Amino acid sequence: MERDVKRDHARLIDELSAAYTEHFPRSAELDRRARRVMVDGGSHGVRLNRPFPVRIDSAHGAYMRDVDGHDILDFWQGHFANILGNNPEVVTTALAAAFASGTGLQLGQTEALQIETAELLCRCLGAEKVRFTTSGSLATMYAIMLSRAFTGRDLVLKVGGGWHGAQPWGLKGVYFAAGPQPWGLESEGLSAHLTDEVLVTRFNDPEELTEQFRIHGERLACLIVEPFAGAGNFMLAAPEYLRTARELADRYGTLLIFDEVISGFRFRAGDLGFLYGIRPDLVTVGKIVGGGMPVAAMAGRGDVLALCGREGGNRVAFTGGTYSAHPASLLAAKTMISYLVEHEAEVYPRLAELGAQMRRRIVEAFAAEGVAARCTGEPNELVSGCSISAVHFPHDKALALDGPHVVLDPACCDTALSQKALPLALLLEDVYTLVGSCALGVAHSNADVERLGDACRATARRIRPYL
Ligand SMILES: Cc1ncc(COP(=O)(O)O)c(C=O)c1O
Repeated sequence: MERDVKRDHARLIDELSAAYTEHFPRSAELDRRARRVMVDGGSHGVRLNRPFPVRIDSAHGAYMRDVDGHDILDFWQGHFANILGNNPEVVTTALAAAFASGTGLQLGQTEALQIETAELLCRCLGAEKVRFTTSGSLATMYAIMLSRAFTGRDLVLKVGGGWHGAQPWGLKGVYFAAGPQPWGLESEGLSAHLTDEVLVTRFNDPEELTEQFRIHGERLACLIVEPFAGAGNFMLAAPEYLRTARELADRYGTLLIFDEVISGFRFRAGDLGFLYGIRPDLVTVGKIVGGGMPVAAMAGRGDVLALCGREGGNRVAFTGGTYSAHPASLLAAKTMISYLVEHEAEVYPRLAELGAQMRRRIVEAFAAEGVAARCTGEPNELVSGCSISAVHFPHDKALALDGPHVVLDPACCDTALSQKALPLALLLEDVYTLVGSCALGVAHSNADVERLGDACRATARRIRPYL
């Protein structure tokens, strides 16, 4: 019992929450108003941290200014979209010029800009065709619908801890639950068929993957996997794992979908699969690709995408919505993608170097105060740097942090400490890292990373008495 009480850190979190309420009084006040008209005070669960979220007035580069006047060092960076920092001038200038010249808002037409952006994206992703949509969730949903139609099969294989957005086939096996069935359905209101239709396998475990294909391969429409686990806490896929995935998919006639909503343009000016030398049948991108606007896309094999068009008999209703390929959004996308292509040789080595400094600094800061912390987000033999990491407190210092099933399991890592207490404590130092994850952009300086280290050290001093 004593152990469980300690593990949920209720007393620590209560005390942090009290200090937080004092530190952010105007945000506390706004939260009361927000809750009167919005469920939990907002429209995105993860961002509505307890006791209440910090409300932001403006943001530029590595920083955000909140309604209480704090300059907050931001490692959330637009939910991992803002690789050039918050409100990067290259994008805001292009948008301002477009609005001034009479383009930008919705027309419900289609223009040359869409063709240029599609050509650029296909080149960067090595894809034959692309179709734009407005969220990563829709992109993965359509990728799965296309796979099911193309193969004439029902089953979808995904990875435990893999988040593909709030769409029916993505809402299984995201959050770890202790017990014999750790990966269940994440929501009520879904078709009961999904329990059997979506199978969950273990990230970075080629043997289990082989076994899943041996049993279900003839019925598998697709395997959807992130080459870099995002919500699963920032771990690169092992090269052997992705090679096995490609081989098995080929052998069984299953489509391989790489969900690169986080990893696309995060490691290079294109898809991460390229660095592994592996081409998926379909790839989904979003976040960075939108340049700060709601753009996502699904790209890949022309014969598969054809099923949502006239040539393929319009068999899959990936028809688009009112705001699909919105002009201002596509302009932001084209501007961001072009910038990353032109500056690839500076942006990615810089992010790799900062990422290494960040992980080193975090671990050293906690260690200096006697707290054993570890970071995920290590590079591997094919991917030389990584600019998103998460902080963990494994119970066993030697534990290999090689999959979401390890870092999301409270029996392996102190998840209440990393996901609840740590972000609150860091915010008391005016450093923003939602759920313990830290994303870097080129707007961060070495001094910003040092400041994160100092904040981790102050955090360690705060939490140590409760451990
Ligand atoms: C890997 C991955 N796929 C899909 C999604 C869903 O994208 P969106 O939030 O744009 O719907 C996310 C969102 O975080 C993601 O991380």
